Amino acid sequence: MRIATLVLLATLGSQAVAADTQQLAAEGAALIPPFQQQLLETVKAAMQSGGPVKAVEACQLLAPQITSQHSKAPWTVGRTALKLRNPANAPDAWERQVLEQFAARAAAGEPIAELKHAEIVDGEFRLMKAIPTGEPCLACHGQQIKPELAAVIDQRYPQDQARGFALGELRGAFTLRRALADQP
Ligand code: HEC
Repeated sequence: MRIATLVLLATLGSQAVAADTQQLAAEGAALIPPFQQQLLETVKAAMQSGGPVKAVEACQLLAPQITSQHSKAPWTVGRTALKLRNPANAPDAWERQVLEQFAARAAAGEPIAELKHAEIVDGEFRLMKAIPTGEPCLACHGQQIKPELAAVIDQRYPQDQARGFALGELRGAFTLRRALADQP
């Protein structure tokens, strides 16, 4: 009887955690589209007004600003990848493992746009969502970057690895985290 009660309590407890986790995942996922949208609009506007070279300059200046604007307490948002352009976006050990998992799942045929992973890690709720390489990304991350543009990327990101991507390939991921409220 006692054991049964404990099992019941344990089950209820894990259901509560599961429900919370689902809510946090939904809350986090809702932060991604406006962040993504603003990045896209910024790069498009810079491309239209000054061409790709100016757009790289705009990206270097504005992507970190847009990222901090969209990090609204308690959430922190960002982007990361296995092949990096900005070293400040380097994955930590957990993110690296999730990126590798996404690459394996993509190789096994899962659509990249649907790859997501959420987990509680060291008292934090963490969520990642894969980013596919779209058509507008190829100018700066593709296999045939214009020489003039490649020169600017080389100059601003001497360790750049974020090129050579094909349309539809896994480019990286959005990464979000927040402390868990009211830890018992
Ligand atoms: C005008 C050139 C340009 C275009 C177009 C562009 N990017 Fe980037 N991208 C950059 C630059 C510059 C950075 C580094 C800026 C930063 O995040 O600090 C970057 C960084 C990133 C990062 C962060 C990880 C890293 O390597 O630092 C991801 C993910 C990314 N781009 C994905 C995309 C996707 C997806 C598209 C298409 C929707 C795209 N980019 C279009 C220039 C570009």
